Amino acid sequence: MNHRKVLRAAVTVAVAGALASGMTMAMTTGASAGTTLGASAAEKGRYFGAAVAVNKLSNSTYTTVLNREFNSVVAENEMKWASNEPQQGVFNHSSGDRLVSHAQANGMSVRGHTLLWHAQQPGWAQGMSGSALRNAMINHVTQVATHYRGKIHSWDVVNEAFADGGSGGRRDSNLQRTGNDWIEAAFRAADAADPGAKLCYNDYNTDGINAKSTGIYNMVRDFKSRGVPIDCVGFQSHLGTSLASDYQANLQRFADLGVDVQITELDVMTGGNQANIFGAVTRACMNVSRCTGITVWGVRDCDSWRGSDNALLFDCNGNKKAAYTNVLNALNAGPGIPTTPPTTTPPPTDPPPTTPPPTTGGCSASVSLNSWNGGFVASVKVTAGSAGTNGWNVSVTLPGGASVTNTWSATASGSSGTVRFANVDYNGRLTAGQVAEFGFQGTGSGAGMTPTCTAS
Ligand code: G3I
Repeated sequence: MNHRKVLRAAVTVAVAGALASGMTMAMTTGASAGTTLGASAAEKGRYFGAAVAVNKLSNSTYTTVLNREFNSVVAENEMKWASNEPQQGVFNHSSGDRLVSHAQANGMSVRGHTLLWHAQQPGWAQGMSGSALRNAMINHVTQVATHYRGKIHSWDVVNEAFADGGSGGRRDSNLQRTGNDWIEAAFRAADAADPGAKLCYNDYNTDGINAKSTGIYNMVRDFKSRGVPIDCVGFQSHLGTSLASDYQANLQRFADLGVDVQITELDVMTGGNQANIFGAVTRACMNVSRCTGITVWGVRDCDSWRGSDNALLFDCNGNKKAAYTNVLNALNAGPGIPTTPPTTTPPPTDPPPTTPPPTTGGCSASVSLNSWNGGFVASVKVTAGSAGTNGWNVSVTLPGGASVTNTWSATASGSSGTVRFANVDYNGRLTAGQVAEFGFQGTGSGAGMTPTCTAS
């Protein structure tokens, strides 16, 4: 069981315990009277967010609206690959960190956008292909998700990987040409790097039941059946002058697969229907118990990438538009998220560990692999025996030709042959049966590695 599943199980136990003791756990289910988008959404167990251009955080009209109305933010551009790894292996998180600090100082959660996308790649990645690109891409996911570990509510792990039109298939891109498994490889790497973040697939033109959304639906169903760690699907919802009549039904069919759904980049063409469409989208989300939040793609009309569409909830002076009122009313009128997990969701099944957990002193280690042609990410679980540990060492013998390129949550000695991984400060001391996790990325094949664990 990985960390995200442990957290989930702990929440389930807590809820069950509370119910057994007669304590009321239900969120507000009736009408409420929040006066800001964030507060009203929070009353119903949800978030209401905005995409932020970090350089606008110094504009007081902008931040007054942002800080008053929203309880979630996402970087409009600053966490994209071209922004935070401009040269291969050289990371610049300064703008993203600035947004995270702003969010933390103002009680907002942060969506991460986006680890991998065919667009806004740095020039050096655009020119790569094959296993070199696959390695670079997994390294990017690992390094960025590790940098923000514990600070991101939900990551758009992969953005816009499906084609428009009627094929229901993947979009051609340099990432896709590294092999059809690139999306699951990315989710596994993100899971290893930040087990606490919700991991989302995000796309547009998925605003009803159509060929593209069905292609994505089939991928999510396949991932869930094989235990690929996906938690949520983002529906960008860049909308025109009408809304698909099956918008809510489409959200619900994804939720029924056992993933959360989120409206991730909402904006709507101006005109007579704008306010109605904003209200209808909000109602649809409220009516789906696994729709956990809505993000609008910008704060004011003049902040929007859609320019003269005036596609957002505030005018350029920060005044509320009619669309704002419809959204707020829909949030206040809507039901809350029930705290008991939906019964339709089967618990994900774990692949069997490579070694059984210990029953005596010492420690044991098991490894699970996410491999592709020419590389791999290994996730290692260390389980303390009955005496607990003050520290631990895990030795792994790599197959010939394989080598470790980077490690997280442990310190590696050596990079090929037998490599020793020692605990870092925060994960050496384990009580009996407690589990610590670390990971490493390598080139070559990682097949057949059998870890041995020594406790101190
Ligand atoms: O920062 C540079 C500036 O220095 C330069 O002078 C200027 C000249 O063109 O460009 C500026 O960068 C622009 C950047 O936005 C910041 O304004 C880029 O050219 C421009 O391409 C970029 O556009 C962003 C677009 O993604 C990139 O494809 C939009 O702001 C952003 O809203 C948009 O967001 C996407 C989501 O990530 C994914 N879903 C669709 C959505 C809308 O297209």
